[in-house]
Amino acid sequence: MAISKEEFQLIRQFLHDHSGILVNEGKEYLVENRLTVLLVQNGCENFTELYEKLKKDTGPLRNKVIDAMTTNETLWFRDASFATAVTETVIPYLLGKAMTQPQVRIWSAACSTGQEPYSIAMLLHEAMEKIGPKAPALSKFRILATDISPSAVTIAKTARYSQLAISRGMKPEFLEKYFSKNGMVYEVKPEIRGLVEFKQFNLKDDFTPHGVFDFVMCRNVLIYFSEDLKKAIYQKIHRGLAKDGWMAIGASESPRGYTDAFEQVLIKGAALFRPKRV
Ligand SMILES: C[S@@+](CC[C@H](N)C(=O)[O-])C[C@H]1O[C@@H](n2cnc3c(N)ncnc32)[C@H](O)[C@@H]1O
Repeated sequence: MAISKEEFQLIRQFLHDHSGILVNEGKEYLVENRLTVLLVQNGCENFTELYEKLKKDTGPLRNKVIDAMTTNETLWFRDASFATAVTETVIPYLLGKAMTQPQVRIWSAACSTGQEPYSIAMLLHEAMEKIGPKAPALSKFRILATDISPSAVTIAKTARYSQLAISRGMKPEFLEKYFSKNGMVYEVKPEIRGLVEFKQFNLKDDFTPHGVFDFVMCRNVLIYFSEDLKKAIYQKIHRGLAKDGWMAIGASESPRGYTDAFEQVLIKGAALFRPKRV
């Protein structure tokens, strides 16, 4: 279904207002490709009718449109240098925190289909095993994993992955150890699933109900947002991060130019960020 210039602007603005996602000018084809099926399913003749329905909608259609327009591309242990930095620096910091506070809190703030939070849970589990009996109880660690896309969150919650999904970054020894195979499906074992809680959450919304975290990952999502929204989200993360906590973003992302509240720390080729000490 072809989209007119005016229709493109209406849908583009709607998406930006409700999800923060900024569809670049000239990307009419992207909206056509991703929303035509929904348009037909909802009995609309054109994008104007879809937009009119969206304006009256209380949530279900909006969720479907946002779902269709999000890019849920993700990998297990995305960016080798990031996984090394987490293992060598962030996890030891979190283990130290577990000695002094009742709960250690981690947030995967755009978790897609779950690969990111489950990877972190596996790295944490490995670290605890290495320490042995003196390790803090695993129950001290909680990983909140959120995403705006309802279908991504549903897949993440089921914790079941196809061979194709597994082939994208899962290490054979971790596959053997942390998954059970059921026919063609690999299911994350309960000891890892139990560390992660999934929720649908829009990064445009207020972060304060989530409380304070020791480690926040907001990776490969801010690239889709406007400059103003990036700035607002960096500020919200800063407010919700422990004073000595860690923030991780995508390898191509940086808070520079949006806030000077973080200092960059390079660890084995990965850039991580901490609140600047004042
Ligand atoms: C490219 S994926 C990145 C997944 C993972 N963090 C990683 O690095 O592999 C981007 C994710 O951001 C989510 N997203 C987009 N806009 C969002 C918003 N406003 N609030 C929360 N999540 C959003 C998408 O649904 C998608 O799952």
